[in-house]
Amino acid sequence: MSTPNLKIENLRVSIEDKEIIKGLNLEINGGEIHAIMGPNGTGKSTLSSALMGHPKYEVTEGNVTFNGEDLFEMEVDERAKAGLFLAMQYPSEVSGITNADFLRSAINARREEGQEISLMKFIRELDKKMELLEMDSSFAHRYLNEGFSGGEKKRNEILQLMMIEPKIAILDEIDSGLDIDALKVVAKGVNEMRNPEFGCLIITHYQRLLNYITPDKVHVMMQGRIVKSGGPELAQRLEAEGYDWIKEELGIEDETVGQEA
Ligand SMILES: Nc1ncnc2c1ncn2[C@@H]1O[C@H](COP(=O)(O)OP(=O)(O)O)[C@@H](O)[C@H]1O
Ligand SMILES: [Mg+2]
Repeated sequence: MSTPNLKIENLRVSIEDKEIIKGLNLEINGGEIHAIMGPNGTGKSTLSSALMGHPKYEVTEGNVTFNGEDLFEMEVDERAKAGLFLAMQYPSEVSGITNADFLRSAINARREEGQEISLMKFIRELDKKMELLEMDSSFAHRYLNEGFSGGEKKRNEILQLMMIEPKIAILDEIDSGLDIDALKVVAKGVNEMRNPEFGCLIITHYQRLLNYITPDKVHVMMQGRIVKSGGPELAQRLEAEGYDWIKEELGIEDETVGQEA
């Protein structure tokens, strides 16, 4: 099996004719954890939504390949089946489908007919992973995210990640609204996933998650592009000093801070 790869070249994305992503380059391979940090409204969530194929986000230029295939030629469900995973900043609630049913269908959707996961194996895996994520077993039988607290939804996104075992995952603000214990649990889940067959992009606005998950690369996103890349020390400097020094260094005029969408 070849190493997972997501390659983004000169990507431009507009929402209702307003350009949000303005020429973004990024490459993620299996075994790597990357973090994108950046102020509110710079287009971080727009990037993940565009990659997942949200119809509102229009790709106007650039190339993205996922394991060598043109991502934008793939249907949205094909992207997921091929192993691309997106944990959304605001996970939706789905009434009428239990968490366990959802997970089992998501796993089986990625398998050939006749190769479905057995119920026994599924339950064993689910129990094991819920225990690791310190989730009460009742969450398996509740409707997907319905009535879950913010922190419970985030934990549930990590449960999905661990059960579905994608090739490349994009985790958008997986740390927002988490207390320190939940943050450690989420980090434990991601660290558990670390292996050469899995690549991960963590989108965050705070450095604190990166105290528990050490990224291989840190990228700063401003005004729709990656303006600086470095190692974990870059995240620490951002936490200590904010973004002003980067703006000065690059001669960027004041960032128009948009609404977090
Ligand atoms: N669905 C949408 N409709 C209109 N504008 C949007 C939508 N999504 C995002 N935007 C705008 O795009 C810009 C970038 O938003 P977003 O990608 O959510 O930023 P970030 O995740 O970096 O905080 C913001 O100005 C936001 O208001
Ligand atoms: Mg966002």
